[in-house]
Amino acid sequence: MNPWLLPLRRWCAALLAVGVAAVRAVEPAPYLDPAQPLETRVGDLLGRMTLDEKLALVHADSKFTTAAIPRLGIPRRWMSDGPNGVREDVGPDTWLPAGHTDDFSTAMPPLIALAATWNVDLGRAYGTVLGSEARERNKQILLGPGVNIQRTPLGGRSFEFPGEDPWLTSRVAVSYIQGVQSQGVAACVKHFAANNQEEQRGSIDVQMDERTLREIYLPAFEAAVKEAGVLVVMGSYNQFRGQHCCENDYLLNQVLKKEWGFPGLVVSDWGGVHNTDEAVRNGLDLEMGTEPPYDNFYLARRFRNGILQGKYPLALLDDKVRRNLRVMFASKVFDPDRPAGAINTPTHQATARQVAEEAIVLLKNDGGLLPLDKGRIRSVAVIGANATRLQAHSGGSSAIKSFYEITPLEGILHQVGAAANVTFSQGYLDPDLSSDRRPGAAQPLPDADAGRRGEELAARAVEAAKQADVVVYVGGLNHDRFFDAEGSDRKDLKLPYGQDELIRRVVAANPRTVVVLLSGSAVEMGSWLGQVPAVLQAWYGGAEGGNALGRILFGVVNPSGKLPCTFPKRLEDSPAHALGAYPGEHGTERYAEGLLVGYRWFDAKHIEPQFPFGFGLSYTRFTYSRLAITPVAEGNASAAAVTLTNSGPRDGAETVEVYVRPLHPSVPRPEKELKAFGKVALRAGETKTVTLPLPRAAFAFYDPQRAAWVAEQGDYEILAGGSSRDLPLTAPVRLAATSVVAH
Ligand code: GLC
Repeated sequence: MNPWLLPLRRWCAALLAVGVAAVRAVEPAPYLDPAQPLETRVGDLLGRMTLDEKLALVHADSKFTTAAIPRLGIPRRWMSDGPNGVREDVGPDTWLPAGHTDDFSTAMPPLIALAATWNVDLGRAYGTVLGSEARERNKQILLGPGVNIQRTPLGGRSFEFPGEDPWLTSRVAVSYIQGVQSQGVAACVKHFAANNQEEQRGSIDVQMDERTLREIYLPAFEAAVKEAGVLVVMGSYNQFRGQHCCENDYLLNQVLKKEWGFPGLVVSDWGGVHNTDEAVRNGLDLEMGTEPPYDNFYLARRFRNGILQGKYPLALLDDKVRRNLRVMFASKVFDPDRPAGAINTPTHQATARQVAEEAIVLLKNDGGLLPLDKGRIRSVAVIGANATRLQAHSGGSSAIKSFYEITPLEGILHQVGAAANVTFSQGYLDPDLSSDRRPGAAQPLPDADAGRRGEELAARAVEAAKQADVVVYVGGLNHDRFFDAEGSDRKDLKLPYGQDELIRRVVAANPRTVVVLLSGSAVEMGSWLGQVPAVLQAWYGGAEGGNALGRILFGVVNPSGKLPCTFPKRLEDSPAHALGAYPGEHGTERYAEGLLVGYRWFDAKHIEPQFPFGFGLSYTRFTYSRLAITPVAEGNASAAAVTLTNSGPRDGAETVEVYVRPLHPSVPRPEKELKAFGKVALRAGETKTVTLPLPRAAFAFYDPQRAAWVAEQGDYEILAGGSSRDLPLTAPVRLAATSVVAH
C-alpha cells in the first residue's frame, strides 16, 4: 500500500519509534531497558517527569486516548472497547464514528456465549484473538472483560457478561484476561462493582451485606487481580454504599488495592467521575470519558491546583502515575519484543466460530428432530427476522464494525442451499430490520416481504411452513433499546413483535419446527414450548454465528453448550423480582435476595425453572458412573474424580459440573454452589475420568467478623453431573477442623 495512505496514527507510531530509538541511542535510560526490573523502569521514568507530564497521564485528551509525552518517548495511549471485539474508532471528541477504513475487527460472540461454552481453554483463545487484534489496531488497553453478575434476566447488558454464577464468571474472566495480556495489551476487568442493571446506572446506590458482596459480586474481580494479574480495573457508574464506584474508598483503596494488592490502574467508566477530592483520595488513577476542554475535569486542572495549593500531596499523583506507567511497561509498550498484532486471520475466524458453536445450548430435542438430515431434507422454510438481521454492530459500547457477519439464513444456505429448496419469510415486523440488514450487499434470497404488514408477514410465514419438510424459526431479541442493549433494561421476559403467537401458528402448520432463540438471557417460552419439538439457545453468534448455527442444525457439530444463567418460567420466579428488589426505590437498590442469586434462589425456594443453570442437551447421551473424592497430597485440599461415558450414537463433548453442599453450616448458605467444572470430549462409547481440584476454598464462606474466608469444620456433600438440577453422583467430605483459607 502507498505509505501516504497509511492513517496518521501509524505515522505517529513510526515517528515515536524513531524518537524512542533516538533516546535509547543517546542515553540508554533505565526505563528504556527491558532488562531492568519493572519497578526500576517505573521509578526512573517517573523521576524524569514534570508535574504537567504526570497530570497528562491521569486524564483523557480525547474520547479514548491520553496525551503522548514525546520528550520521554511516551506514546499517545489508545484504549478501546470492547469485551467481544475491538470497537470501531470514534471521536476524537464525540461518540460518532471517526470514519476510518482500517477499524474493522472480528466480531466475537459476546461473553454470555463464551460462558455458555464452559470451555476455559477456549476462553484463553478468545482473549488471544482480542489481544492480537487490539495490538494490530494500536490499542494499549482493551476495555474488557465485563464480569457483572446477572442478577436479573432483564439486565440490558446481560449479553455482555458471563451469567449468574461467580465461579463460572471468574473462570471466564481469568482465561480471557490471560489471553488478551499475552498479546502485549492490558485487559480491563469491569465494572467494579455491583453494576447489575442499566436502569439508573449512573446514580443508583446499591446496598448489600458484606457476604453477598464478597461471595457473589467480587469473586470474578478478585480472581482477575490475583490469578490473572489483570492490569486495569474499571470503576462502575453506580454508587455503592453511598459513594460512586469510580471514587469509592472502600472498593478501590481498601479492598482492591490494600487487601488484594492490586498494582495496576483504576480507570473510570466514561464520565463516571463526580468529585476531584474523592477521585484523588479514593483510588482513581485515570479519568476517561470527558470532553473538550479536557483540562476542565476532575483529575486535570482541579487536581493540579490542589497540588500547588498543598491540598493534595504530590505522592498521591505519583502513585497514580506509577500505576499508569506500570501498566505501560507490563504490556511492553516500550519494548521491541512486544507481540505483533494480526486481524481477522483464519485462526481468529475459526476461534469465533468455535465459540459460537460451543455456546449453542440444545434445550429440547423431542423425537430426535435434530440434527436435520442433509441427505433427506428437500425443503427448509427459514422464518423470523433474526434469520437475516445483523447483530454485531449494535448494542452499545460492545458493538463491532465486523469485517463480515454470517447470518443464520446464510449459515443454513451454506449447509443445504445447493441440495434443498430454502425459503425465507420474515414472519414478524421487526421495525429496525431494514437498518440492520447488510447495506448494499445482495440478500441471499429474494425479499418478498418488503413492505408487508404484520399479519401478511405471519400468514406468508405459516404458508411457507406448510410447504416445507422442516421449519427453522429464528427469533428472540436484538440490540434495540429495551432489549439487549446498553443503557436500558428489558421491560419484561417476553418475546417481542408477536412472536409467541407466530411460533404457535408455525408449529401448528408444521410440527417439524426448530425454534432458534437469539438473546442475551432468558425469554418466556411457556406458551409454545410444549408444541415445539426442538429449541436451541444461540445467544448472539458474532461474525461466524450463522455458520455455527448451520453446522449445529445439520449435525456437523454436536451441541455442547450449557446455560450460564437460569431460564425462569416467569419473571416473578426470579429473586430480584420475587422480592420487589429491582430496580430500586428513591435511588437506592437493596439486594434483598443476598446470596440467593440465580439457581441459589431457585434451590432455596424449591422453584422449578423452565431450564436450570448448567443445563444443555447433546445429540448423544452421557452416563455418569462414579465420583471419588481423593485427598491431594499437598495441604488438605481434595479433588473430585468423575467417571462418565458417552453412551450414545455419536461423538460429543460434555461439561462435568461439581457442586459443594454444606450439610450443617453455622451460617446461612446456599443449598449448593458450583465450585468446579471441566469439559471433556468423548467418542461414542468412550469412558473417561475427569479429575477436578476442590481446594479448601471451595468449601469456604466469607466471615465478615474475621474479614476472611473460612472453611468450616463439618460435613459436606459433593455433587457431580451435567446440570445444576441433574447431579446423579454424590460423595461425602468431612473437614476435620475450621480454618481461615486464602482466597
Ligand atoms: C460505557 C460502558 C463501558 C465502556 C465505556 C467506554 O458507558 O459502561 O463498558 O467501556 O463506556 O465506551
